[in-house]
Amino acid sequence: MKIFTKKSELKEFLSNQKADGKSIGFVPTMGALHQGHLSLIKRAKEKNDIGVVSIFVNPTQFDNKEDLDKYPKTFDNDVLLLESVNCDVLFFPSVEEIYAENITSEKFDFDGLEHQMEGKFRDGHFDGVGTIVKALFEIVEPDTAYFGRKDFQQLQIIHKLVEKHNIPVKIKGRPIFREEDGLAMSSRNVRLTKEHREAAPFIYKTLKKARKKFGAKSAKELTEWVEKKLKKHPLLELEYFTIADEQTLETATIIEPNKKYRAFIAVFAGDIRLIDNISLKRKH
Ligand code: PAF
Repeated sequence: MKIFTKKSELKEFLSNQKADGKSIGFVPTMGALHQGHLSLIKRAKEKNDIGVVSIFVNPTQFDNKEDLDKYPKTFDNDVLLLESVNCDVLFFPSVEEIYAENITSEKFDFDGLEHQMEGKFRDGHFDGVGTIVKALFEIVEPDTAYFGRKDFQQLQIIHKLVEKHNIPVKIKGRPIFREEDGLAMSSRNVRLTKEHREAAPFIYKTLKKARKKFGAKSAKELTEWVEKKLKKHPLLELEYFTIADEQTLETATIIEPNKKYRAFIAVFAGDIRLIDNISLKRKH
């Protein structure tokens, strides 16, 4: 695997590959890689000639300094994992290489997607995500980029980013990877205490129960049911639970036929904020 830290060198390498007719599949990450990331990289490799991964803990998408400082950094292990799935190229730039002197975000209008859910609780988060993903797309110029559906709102925002800015990259969303007990894989999971780690699968269990009740209960009743369940839990604190339209991400009050809905949740397990979501289908 080739490792680049300078954008100019990466660009030169990739433009030679493109000149040889090779397609580029790209997986942007913040490192601390897990099986979810590896599945994206495997997919990128299956569908393209060259698989490129970036590892960059992007400071502008963190609204909380402590979360940024404590974000897990496991570079040596990440390299081993990337080599195990035959990743071709790793881009590992410094903050200066990406932002020079100006560590700030561009301001984006994602047609309101940015004001829902995570946008309400993480100030400026999606401006930071938009800034870095746009910058990385300009550097890598991939044919296709792969993102996990665990960050479903982020995925929809990236679809909107490429659409509104005419960026010629195909965006592919991929399934959520889960631990055996159902907890959605996340780089932040390693920061959970033992007792919070044991408690955390309750989140997905609750989502699955909510999915079963969808259709029989109204969106409001279901939301209240989840809120009550979480309130009773001694170790988990609910930030939000929302049933939203998959396209607009607006909270659904009335469930309309021919629309797709998803339940979204954010929970604190001690200091660690966990998010998850599940697709909802009505039973008739
Ligand atoms: O999902 C992530 O890991 C990050 O938000 C991303 C897309 C790599 C941008 O920093």
